[in-house]
Amino acid sequence: MEFSIKSGSPEKQRSACVVVGVFEPRKLTLSAELLDNAARNHISDIIRRGDMEGKVGSTLLLHNVPGTLCDRVLLIGLGKEKEFGDKEYCEAVHSAVRTLNETGSFDGTVFLTETAVRKRSAAWRVRQAAMVAQQTVYRFDQFKSKKDKVRRPLRKLTFVIDRRNELTAAEAALSQGQAIAEGVALAKDLANLPANVCTPTHLADTAQKMAAEHKLDYQILERDEMTGLGMHSLLAVAKGSHQAPKLIVLQHKGGKSDEKPVVLVGKGITFDTGGISLKPAAEMDEMKYDMCGAASVLGALKAVAMLKLPLNLTVIVPAVENMPGGAATRPGDIVTSMSGQTIEILNTDAEGRLILCDALTYAARFDPETVIDVATLTGACVVALGHVASGLFANNEALARELLHCGDEAHDRAWQMPLWNDYQELLKSPFADMANVGGRWGGSITAACFLARFTRKYTWAHLDIAGTAWKSGTEKGATGRPVPLLVHYLLKRTGKLN
Ligand code: BES
Ligand code: MN
Ligand code: ZN
Repeated sequence: MEFSIKSGSPEKQRSACVVVGVFEPRKLTLSAELLDNAARNHISDIIRRGDMEGKVGSTLLLHNVPGTLCDRVLLIGLGKEKEFGDKEYCEAVHSAVRTLNETGSFDGTVFLTETAVRKRSAAWRVRQAAMVAQQTVYRFDQFKSKKDKVRRPLRKLTFVIDRRNELTAAEAALSQGQAIAEGVALAKDLANLPANVCTPTHLADTAQKMAAEHKLDYQILERDEMTGLGMHSLLAVAKGSHQAPKLIVLQHKGGKSDEKPVVLVGKGITFDTGGISLKPAAEMDEMKYDMCGAASVLGALKAVAMLKLPLNLTVIVPAVENMPGGAATRPGDIVTSMSGQTIEILNTDAEGRLILCDALTYAARFDPETVIDVATLTGACVVALGHVASGLFANNEALARELLHCGDEAHDRAWQMPLWNDYQELLKSPFADMANVGGRWGGSITAACFLARFTRKYTWAHLDIAGTAWKSGTEKGATGRPVPLLVHYLLKRTGKLN
């Protein structure tokens, strides 16, 4: 889809459709009022008859509105004016774009970006609108032999801002929104692929293509090299699978050469059967999503590369399949991680931490400013936070606060959980330096505590996205989270946010 920004009045737009908002109950926004004035109360008459209350996301499409230059007018409900916040705004834009796409408008001129949203700037509204628009038209139909095509899909969206002097900031926000949306789409595409297609090798190939397209430094460590480095924890997970493990490293060098990089590490289990500690059959197909951490850090990197952000960003993806083959690791096996610490693998289904710990040890080589890992790490995190917030853990309070704030601003929220030493005791092993599981209670915390033992050398945060990375049920599909949070954080670091 093509996007542009302008300022102007709604009745003067030559467009297939002009989109304006209506608050509940039946209160016109400023742009809706301008249209109504030009149309000699045509719109307020219709609304008074009770055709539109203004509930969030509700729609009313009007044809032949007098006094205007557009083919149609689309009214979008915004809910109560006092309650109009991030969620309501995104829902309104989503509903507008869906309706435009389904009703054969080739282009749309959207005035929703003019309406004030609590605590948010005009740039925020534009950035968010571009993202939501792209996500609304996202489809994953590459395996459908008959695609249900939209007859005349929406091709062009114009967002209107009320002040000309905001144009430059809005243009920048628009590119940012588009780049984040591209990153989200990449993350969704990779995650939605079935595990027979999206293997560790496929992730490595994708990374290589990204490197060529965006001029990134690229390196893949194969099994032999990982053996040489002593990554026996990661390799223990790979043993039961016929798929070769890969450690993918991509670097965007947009900053000064002496500037320390931010390192993002993404869990890339392309399928998690549980290994010998086999998972139950129900919904096991969803374990193709166990590489959503990997997909999200690649998505974030894509956005950063598209925007050519002036910072150094390193992305590390340990990519492994967790299968119960004849050579698979057994419960009770003890391995030595790259850090030298030994691990008793009591449960082969706690494999995410086993590949991450070696990737996190490897991350120290890049002399990082900050390391953030992203992982569909624990079912316990879903129990704790449901599908709304990602779990956030950090060994540095300032970093935790910053990420929480970015999640809030990007409408991709996280919630902090404790990393107190009191929980470390649960990882005691009678035979090795630690066990890979900490028992039934506080599962997402003990998983994070395990990782914390490998990240003492740098400032580190961990995002458990088990509940937020994909949706189950009839709407099954990847969400692309936390790409918006991560890119927001990186944009903020470079001072590029308005
Ligand atoms: N990938 C899973 C976590 C997961 C499960 C995410 C369900 C989303 C939905 C992870 O590898 C896993 O299996 N974790 C175990 C850990 C346990 C064995 C300590 C879990 O959460 O049950
Ligand atoms: Mn598992
Ligand atoms: Zn897993």
